[in-house]
Amino acid sequence: MPIPFLEMTGISKSFPGVRALEDVSLSVAPGEVIGLVGENGAGKSTLMKILGGVIEPSAGTIVLDGEPITGLTVARSIAGGIAFVHQELNLFENLTVGANIFIGREPLKGGPLRFVDERALNRRAQPLLAQLGADFDAATPLSTLSLAQRQLVEIAKALSLKARLVIMDEPTSALTSSETERLLTTIARLKADGVSVILVTHRLAEIEQAADRVVVLRDGRCVAGLDRGAIHADAMIRHMIGRDLNTLYRAPAGPPGDAVLELVAVRTAYRPDQTVSLEVRRGEIVGLAGLVGSGRTELARTVFGLDAPLSGEIRVGGRPLPPASPAATIA
Ligand SMILES: Nc1ncnc2c1ncn2[C@@H]1O[C@H](COP(=O)(O)OP(=O)(O)OP(=O)(O)O)[C@@H](O)[C@H]1O
Ligand SMILES: [Mg+2]
Repeated sequence: MPIPFLEMTGISKSFPGVRALEDVSLSVAPGEVIGLVGENGAGKSTLMKILGGVIEPSAGTIVLDGEPITGLTVARSIAGGIAFVHQELNLFENLTVGANIFIGREPLKGGPLRFVDERALNRRAQPLLAQLGADFDAATPLSTLSLAQRQLVEIAKALSLKARLVIMDEPTSALTSSETERLLTTIARLKADGVSVILVTHRLAEIEQAADRVVVLRDGRCVAGLDRGAIHADAMIRHMIGRDLNTLYRAPAGPPGDAVLELVAVRTAYRPDQTVSLEVRRGEIVGLAGLVGSGRTELARTVFGLDAPLSGEIRVGGRPLPPASPAATIA
């Protein structure tokens, strides 16, 4: 077992009226990928913000490289090799990839004017991008990159700061499935280079695939630690909600009732080439699945009356709804 370089012990945090964390401990060893899971409000982001020096714990200790740290600040956290890849990325649209990675730390040319040495900057950025398997180079304008590619820029920036631990809080929630696959590959590369990752996500399949160890939070407490062999979605869910899943979702008694909502060949402006027909019957839970960009949100907006369908009909209780009228839909 590699020796942890970071140990958080007995961390508690209260906000006015809310006990967000209570006596939580977490250690991180080099090259470890830790999955941090829990229901909404369990305290995951709060714990990570404490590690990032963004918020101060009410109690507990943080030991980095054997040294207890009191009053951890953002600057001290970064200097200690802890990097945050936020969901809202802190990047500049008008700069290149390389300039974003070395923002504020640009190599300068000699001479009185101290211009940025772009060649040197790109030369330094390139190996970081290669290490992550990026399919774009340092001179690429950031504005031309997808969200997934921008995330890689953030991770490259973390590596340029000699990050030993990269914290990713919900990194895949806006990614397509192939982009998610690529991010998981990036995580494996980081691990292979001895960089640790804490992955916070609600997508348990990603945790099953990527994590060496899982920490489960419930109501601000650490309720389970699972090792590689014990990382299964149903075990994580059981600890997250504190009971078996089948006691939460009971199968409906008897057959579904009449159709409450009917969509008949509905076309949206977003996907004029496709029609959607579906039925939701009384007592039924209908899942609407699809990749980012497949038109789920647009369909939901149309059903709700925020947008008018191009054609087709939406019926509630057998009666057609007037198009584009949220008030009628609510009524
Ligand atoms: N700045 C704050 N002020 C007051 N309460 C807060 C603050 N930040 C978090 N909380 C509360 O602390 C609890 C833990 O929140 P936290 O954001 O850490 O949960 P989370 O596990 O990250 O949830 P999610 O999965 O929804 O992101 C919640 O009850 C939340 O409302
Ligand atoms: Mg959160």
